[in-house]
Amino acid sequence: MNKIFVDACLGKETPYTPVWMMRQAGRYLPEYMATRAKAGDFLTLCHNPQMACEVTLQPVDIINVDAAILFSDILVVPNEMGMDLSFVKGEGPKFSHPIRSEADLERLIGGEEAANRLTYVYETIKLIKAKLSEDKALIGFTGSPWTLATYMIEGEGTKTYSICKKMIYSNPELLHKILAKVTEVVKLYMQKQIESGIDVVQIFDSWAAAIEPSKYDEFSWKYMVEIAEYLKEKYPQIPIIMFPKGVPAFLDKVYGNFDVFGVDWSTPMELAKEKLGDRYVLQGNMEPCRLYSKEATTEAVEDIQHVMQGKRHIFNLGHGILPDVLVENAKHFIQECHRVSKK
Ligand code: CP3
Repeated sequence: MNKIFVDACLGKETPYTPVWMMRQAGRYLPEYMATRAKAGDFLTLCHNPQMACEVTLQPVDIINVDAAILFSDILVVPNEMGMDLSFVKGEGPKFSHPIRSEADLERLIGGEEAANRLTYVYETIKLIKAKLSEDKALIGFTGSPWTLATYMIEGEGTKTYSICKKMIYSNPELLHKILAKVTEVVKLYMQKQIESGIDVVQIFDSWAAAIEPSKYDEFSWKYMVEIAEYLKEKYPQIPIIMFPKGVPAFLDKVYGNFDVFGVDWSTPMELAKEKLGDRYVLQGNMEPCRLYSKEATTEAVEDIQHVMQGKRHIFNLGHGILPDVLVENAKHFIQECHRVSKK
């Protein structure tokens, strides 16, 4: 059976424009909160294939998105490279021993050995694929090497990125070594996700905007392209979505062998279409806070549809859904995307 989402990623005509939401499996769903409570905490949930499968499928059943996204987190990769990870309530992720020197980097597990430690992710994918309806796609994902490195170097979320940006200007060799080691693991990790059954890959570069435009290719994009090209050579039929958040100044310079460009909410869809629409399918890009109002949601969906005209487009938010959005408003977004684009 054809998966509308996969067809749309490959630029084929579809009966309507498919839609999913970044962070669609999460705290705005009472069903998610119940499963997380059963698991005890977030990381235990990520490590338990049965429960991770359950929360992956919740948004498909409850709000009728066209694709499921694997429930996990980008930070399981550095965690399995040997970094001690915890999620502190109200503060987000923390690594107790950040990477600041060559010696720190050398202690990390690399390559195949690290990728092989992520067995619970591959198990989760197999369980999801056994249960997901055949017309829906499963998206696997990774953080970009740069976005992963920001957490590995800073040790936690940051507003300034000053420790990793200091490395850009004062020790770029070390930063490149860190990025290269992460890239090797991510390539094998995504290869194993594909072999376990995912239909589409998304690479999240959530903290792209921390890098000045003239340095963005050198410290982030080229590593994302390296991963995409490695996967495309082996699995040309698996679509790849690149999501660099907040880098409109880089639109003129985007290159690489991938299928879909994820447009964040700060980039006008018209601009993305003009610069990239001929070369890549575009995904996006409603401002996630519009979900607080049904009227504001309908207005944006109609505007985006007006620009894209149902061609070479996938509806999504321009970043993740927030935890206090009403489920019925999320449902309304999905319904509206389907309504305006039905042919
Ligand atoms: O539904 C989905 O999108 C799939 C699951 C998913 C999660 N994290 C679950 C999660 C995905 C794709 C991610 C990716 C992720 N994780 C990113 C990139 C995407 C983005 O939003 O830009 C980043 C930067 C992270 C790192 C991370 N994980 C942070 C900063 C936090 C804490 C902040 C927060 O939102 O609470 C997490 C925790 C996290 N990852 C939660 C979920 C559902 C919340 C945990 C909980 O309290 O249950």
